[in-house]
This record gives sequence, C-alpha cells and structure tokens, in this order.
Amino acid sequence: MNAGVPVMELRSVTKTYHALGSRVTAVKGVSLQVGAGEVVGIVGESGSGKSTLARIMLGLEPVDSGEVLLVGRAVGVKRTREQRRQVQIVFQDPRSSLNPRMSMLASVEDFAVVHRLGDRAERRRRAVQALESVHLSETMAARRPPELSGGQLQRACLARALVTEPSLLVADEPTSSLDVSIQGQILNLLDELRSRVSMVLISHDMAVIRFISDRVHVMLGGEIVESGPTAQIMEHAQHEYTRRLIRASLLQPIDA
Ligand SMILES: Nc1ncnc2c1ncn2[C@@H]1O[C@H](COP(=O)(O)OP(=O)(O)OP(=O)(O)O)[C@@H](O)[C@H]1O
Ligand SMILES: [Mg+2]
Repeated sequence: MNAGVPVMELRSVTKTYHALGSRVTAVKGVSLQVGAGEVVGIVGESGSGKSTLARIMLGLEPVDSGEVLLVGRAVGVKRTREQRRQVQIVFQDPRSSLNPRMSMLASVEDFAVVHRLGDRAERRRRAVQALESVHLSETMAARRPPELSGGQLQRACLARALVTEPSLLVADEPTSSLDVSIQGQILNLLDELRSRVSMVLISHDMAVIRFISDRVHVMLGGEIVESGPTAQIMEHAQHEYTRRLIRASLLQPIDA
C-alpha cells in the first residue's frame, strides 16, 4: 500500500434521499480522510447521517455529488471484487448479521468463499486465524448463534470481516446492542486490532468514541460540525452540540 495515501477519503460528499414525496439530505458536503493505521471516530445523535456515511464508504449507496477515494482511487457503487474485499463493516446487532444455523467457523469460512479467497485449506487456515485474533476458542467457534452471547457473536462478526484482511473496517455502533459490561471488552479488542486494519468507529456515544479514536468528526444534520484529535475535542470542544455529547458520555463511562 502507498504510504501516506489515505485508505479512505471523502471529498465534499452529499446524499439526499427522496422518500414518499419528502427529501432528506442525510449527508451534506462531508470531507474526511482515514490514514493507514488510524482509528477515526464519527459521533452524532440519531439521524445525523452516520450510517449513511458508512454505506457510502462501503459502496452500498451512490452519492449525489462529491468523490469517494479508496486508497487513492475514485470509486462508486460498482467496485471490483478486490475493492469490495478492502472495505468491511460490522453492524450494531451481531445476532441479525449471522446465519443462526451456521457455526462461527462455518460463517467465517463462508465469507472467505464469498470473497473467493484461496482454496479450501487456505480458507480454513485464514478462518481459524481470524477467530484466534478475536479470542474465540475452538469450542466457541464450533457453536451456532443461539448458543453464544452477544459479545461472542460480535467477536465472530469481527472475525468474519477480518478474514478478508481488509484495509478499512467500518464499525457502525458495534457495542450499542451489548451490555455495558461487555462494551469495554469489544472496544479493547478493536484497540488490539488497530495495528492490522484502519478503522472508522461510529457511535452516538462519545464515551465509545474517545475510548480508541485518534481523531473525531462530530456530525449534526448530515454535516461535520467539528473535527479534531480526540483529546483536543474532549478538552476544548467549540460547538455546544459537541459539549452536550461529551456531558452525556460522562454519565456512563465504559469500563476497560
Ligand atoms: N433509505 C433511506 N430512505 C430515506 N431516508 C433515509 C434512508 N436512510 C436514512 N434516511 C434518513 O437519513 C437521515 C440519516 O440517517 P442515518 O441512518 O444515516 O442516521 P444515523 O446517524 O445513522 O442515525 P442512528 O444513530 O439512529 O443510527 C435520517 O433522517 C434518516 O431518516
Ligand atoms: Mg445509524
């Protein structure tokens, strides 16, 4: 990979939805970069456009204007297999993201098949390695979703994303469906994985964002209203909205 070239770059990206005669501009003129090895946080209240931004980065949603660059190349919704492999996502609810009839190992291996990675032996090797990297034991990996906790399932979803060896992992509210006691475990795991993959961490909760993000973008009504290094934002937030998000996050800190 080119050193210095951002893994993901958005240049003045705008997206408007037209539904039932009404128009919602979910994302308005958003520009951001995710550098190699960086964890970039996106924080904002419900409806501020965070998931729309995630879908744009994944190539699941076309933009109306602006540019999306993946490792320096302009991309749209039509991506090559290699480009699809490079950007992976984990969602809020791991239970609805996994096939209830498949073991964790089978789900992770199956994803390697989808992305046509190597032969059968190679896919098994990669799947076992991915499950190890999220600390799911062989015993756990042999189980199906009904036999696992939310935290274990979210780790399996992470393993499934990582089996493709992506350049960018977008985590959209990855801890929101989990018990507070488990949230810290998942965030610590993401912190461990940062040496392997760049990340965009999306949350409505500044406590989650500040846990591992190097930089933060604050979204309101589809726009980025404030950006900066996490420590700087935490101490010197300029926008009253950001200060409100920070105050709310202090009420329920996350245990490491
Ligand atoms: N497919 C769609 N069709 C029409 N409007 C949509 C669609 N998806 C999102 N929107 C609207 O776009 C805006 C941004 O939605 P988005 O899901 O990106 O917000 P969010 O920040 O992820 O919110 P949350 O924290 O609740 O997940 C909202 O007003 C939403 O209603
Ligand atoms: Mg969302």
